[in-house]
Amino acid sequence: MSIDFFWRIPTHGEPGSHRSRLPYRGDWYQGQDHIRHPGLGGGGQDGFSYIDYIAEVAHAAEISGFHGGLLPSFPMTDEPWAISSFLARETRRFRFMIAFQPGFLNPVTAARMTASLQRATGGRALFNIITGGGGPAQLWWGDSFSHDDRYTRTTEFLDILRGVWQGKPFSYQGRFYQVEEASLPFPLNHETFPEIYFSGSSDAALVSASRHADYYLSWLEPLAQLREKFDRVKAKTDQLGRKIKCAVRVDIVARATEEEAWREVRRGFENLDPVQLERYRQQLARQGDSVGASRQSGFRPSQVNSYKDLIIEPNIWSGFNLLRGGQGQGIVGSYEQVARRLDDLIALGADAFILASTPHLEEAYRVGEEVLPLVRGRASVVTAPESLSLSA
Ligand SMILES: Cc1cc2nc3c(=O)[nH]c(=O)nc-3n(C[C@H](O)[C@H](O)[C@H](O)COP(=O)(O)O)c2cc1C
Repeated sequence: MSIDFFWRIPTHGEPGSHRSRLPYRGDWYQGQDHIRHPGLGGGGQDGFSYIDYIAEVAHAAEISGFHGGLLPSFPMTDEPWAISSFLARETRRFRFMIAFQPGFLNPVTAARMTASLQRATGGRALFNIITGGGGPAQLWWGDSFSHDDRYTRTTEFLDILRGVWQGKPFSYQGRFYQVEEASLPFPLNHETFPEIYFSGSSDAALVSASRHADYYLSWLEPLAQLREKFDRVKAKTDQLGRKIKCAVRVDIVARATEEEAWREVRRGFENLDPVQLERYRQQLARQGDSVGASRQSGFRPSQVNSYKDLIIEPNIWSGFNLLRGGQGQGIVGSYEQVARRLDDLIALGADAFILASTPHLEEAYRVGEEVLPLVRGRASVVTAPESLSLSA
């Protein structure tokens, strides 16, 4: 069985390295006055769009063997559907994993948008279904439903997405959605139904994932906890007579030697400003109701004086959120060590990965060329991306 590798597309700007926030690539950086635009313009705006940079990242990831890219969706990112349509024209086989929260789109509209995107891209769209972590970020979208209600809404949404894709009149009476004799018309209903990755660690998430997901997707956790979660979602899915695969979203710092990799992390840690350390403390006492986020916080020590305090397992560092926000756990080591840790994850049940490292452009080449060829996978081979029909 082959292992699928995706790369993250940084749709919210990024610093030029793990070591420092500056220079900053992109115009999303909070505190605009700190941005120094590199190039010939003496540090001023040079007309180069950050979206052009994202296209370079997608090219680099495609050329270096990744099957596709994840486009995250947060209040501070660009919009993934729009960016995917643009990137499809820039790439050949690269697949687009669009993160979206079902509650924010009508399901029949979403089915039509998806089918049109499949038509335009030769079937290269897939989803990371997210259900939201509650708290202020959820209210930002105007969503005040409770945690488990949001998952009920996600399940109903996916019921309808699948239902209307059959191309026959489909009616549905749910708590959140009702449709009467809806269906995708020909030729949209002949497009490939998108593969579904599904994120969330709560019991409600696992119930919804077992019904609809092709891949259950988790952030990296200590290996014993991750194995237990994967086993639980697989058991639930088996009960429904379905099969589910598992995937891990993980940041990495990979260098020729372990010393170089830790040096990169140490320098990043030493360059942190007090604001970022304060953000770290706030994330430990995070607002919201995300079970996955509180699991992440629970794996991190509260007292941190050195980057070494954040090493929680061999080659696993839990301070990535300090360097670039997001979730904490990631892999640090030599190319060989990072590949072995990915093999460990494959051994405990991972069938796919979404990898990321900063800066995403150069690191796509590095990881694709230096790490992926060392991953033995389950069958000692990692297959090249399949060729897909090219209509874009
Ligand atoms: C790998 C992964 C990627 C995620 N990406 C996003 C994202 O792009 N946008 C977002 O709002 N939430 C994202 N989330 C959080 C999800 O919204 C998730 O539903 C949330 O953690 C609450 O679920 P839980 O309580 O079941 O853990 C992601 C979660 C994981 C595990």
